[in-house]
Amino acid sequence: MPMHRIAVLNGPNLGELSSRETEHYGDLAYDELERYCIDYGRELGLDVHCRQTDGEGELVRLIHESAAACDGIVLNAAAYTHTSVAVRDALLCVSVPVVEVHLSNPAAREDFRRRNLIVDVVSGSVAGFGSRGYGLALSGLKELLA
Ligand code: DQA
Repeated sequence: MPMHRIAVLNGPNLGELSSRETEHYGDLAYDELERYCIDYGRELGLDVHCRQTDGEGELVRLIHESAAACDGIVLNAAAYTHTSVAVRDALLCVSVPVVEVHLSNPAAREDFRRRNLIVDVVSGSVAGFGSRGYGLALSGLKELLA
């Protein structure tokens, strides 16, 4: 069976990991997070491709592009999770499974982070496990694709 191709998409400010609010997001740098996803994916038999953008429109474009080129998506929409109708609408166009991931547990933080515009249009969510959550999301996606 050919390897499933998976996109790991990261939204705004996640490129600043390791220098950004480490009490919430840990001290792994963004390039280390990508490496972890690629290596962990390979162990699971998944072909993982990572992208990060700070732009809302660019994230929408990456969702469409990934849905056309990949079998599944792991998405950390970061702050756009709480604000973006455009990201929600992009996910409604997608026929491949999408697993939402957050490093922190937004539900345990400020009130505005409890508003989530995408949680009901993704296949599953992982939050609060730090960078390990990406591995859990990849494992879950593999199960969904089996
Ligand atoms: C985040 C949580 C969001 O509330 C926040 O805006 C982020 C990161 C997380 O990974 O914990 O930028 O998605």
